[in-house]
Amino acid sequence: MMLRTPAVSALVAAALVAGPILAAPAAAAPGSMVGADSIGDPYFQRQGNGGFDVRHCDIAFTYDPGTRQMTATATITAVATQDLSRFSLDFRGPTVSAVTVNAVAARFSRDDDKLFATPKNVLKAGRTFTVVITYAGEPGPMYDADGSVEGWVPTDDGAFVVGEPQGSAMWFPGNNHPTDKATFTFRATVPDGTTAVGNGTLVSQATHGGWTTFVWESREPMATYLATVTIGKFVVSEFTTASNIPVYTAVDPRLAKRAAPMLAEIPDIVDFFSSVFGPYPFSSTGAVIDYAPKVGYALETQTRPVFCDVPSDAIGTIAHELAHMWFGDSVSLTRWSDIWLNEGFATYAEWLWSEHNGGPTAQKLFERTYAPDKQSFWDVLLADPGVLNMFSYPPYDRGAMTLHALRVKVGDEVFFKILKEWTTAHRFGNATSADFVGLAERESQQDLGPFFDAWLYHTGKPTSW
Ligand code: TRP
Ligand code: ZN
Repeated sequence: MMLRTPAVSALVAAALVAGPILAAPAAAAPGSMVGADSIGDPYFQRQGNGGFDVRHCDIAFTYDPGTRQMTATATITAVATQDLSRFSLDFRGPTVSAVTVNAVAARFSRDDDKLFATPKNVLKAGRTFTVVITYAGEPGPMYDADGSVEGWVPTDDGAFVVGEPQGSAMWFPGNNHPTDKATFTFRATVPDGTTAVGNGTLVSQATHGGWTTFVWESREPMATYLATVTIGKFVVSEFTTASNIPVYTAVDPRLAKRAAPMLAEIPDIVDFFSSVFGPYPFSSTGAVIDYAPKVGYALETQTRPVFCDVPSDAIGTIAHELAHMWFGDSVSLTRWSDIWLNEGFATYAEWLWSEHNGGPTAQKLFERTYAPDKQSFWDVLLADPGVLNMFSYPPYDRGAMTLHALRVKVGDEVFFKILKEWTTAHRFGNATSADFVGLAERESQQDLGPFFDAWLYHTGKPTSW
């Protein structure tokens, strides 16, 4: 398998939550009040749960990097979408000691990846309810089918915390599928001198008795896989972009010097992408440059991408991760098979940044990427690459080529209008390949069937379209 690891290849709200748009999984029998224990994603059959919509997650924990022990309380506010006598959450974290629903103790049980709760009283469709889960122990990493590591990855001074596509369940219970977005509060208590960097805005930082609590608020809806509270010894900087977006960066002191050029580009990249893709979707931005060499990739954690080292292509990679704020984070996929909507768009954004900066043009980069006839590359189906190829070259490079070919076909004016309309129409929501095809056809007034057939829905190198 060819892992692209674009990141570090050389080194190793308001509009919350659309309900699930996936085919309803075979779970609850008609009339049953048991929530489905799957959301029906074709790539991850066990991911996500039915019967409710999460609105807010408040995750409070203390973590000691020395002992790797965590004590945590997760408070989940959700709305029931059916009567519920029992429901499940995705959770693969440490030992649960108690679950309450609307402040009343609930019976609970677990299997490998789910926490099942039976509230004392049936939850009525349409009502908001609150689940509190108390747990403690040693959270850890998990390994995906492609061999990559994610979840809670301990480092020599803290933890590198990433969750694409499954790992968030290693450290907090939730509805772990991109179609159930929620706002988040993280309250992380770590030893004084250690920094905990979450998504969104740092609302307070207070030290008592040798421990510091960082409170982070993610006010715009976020998919669970984009959550992080990455912990370590960091040099922190806070500044703003020319258009006044707050920037918070944290860098491992051992990497500070080498990371400086990529961090310095953040304001210009965010402002340039805002002009091309539409307004930056979130209320803050930044990056975390940590040292977690075993991870081997970066992740577009919302508002604040995390890097496991200084990437070899540092500027391309920071541009890639920041572009995900529009493509992936604000506009999220509906099922994982559409991963090119994340990776192809973020890769094309790298090309646009190169072109804008006097580097190779997007046309040049298209030609370079298109030239090789390597069959294993062209034989991956972009609209359904398979779990093992989610993060291999095709979703990235063939995805970017698809967008460039579209640009050439419809012209710059229409193409950039399509991109802006995409980020506007699906802001904080979820979309599919078919939504993109439909939008491109409407904006261009062209039949793009044969075009997308060649690029998305068939294997083999497109030669005419
Ligand atoms: N989405 C990440 C990026 O493009 C990469 C990524 C996330 C990844 N999870 C992965 C790569 C697992 C390999 C394996 O920046
Ligand atoms: Zn990416």
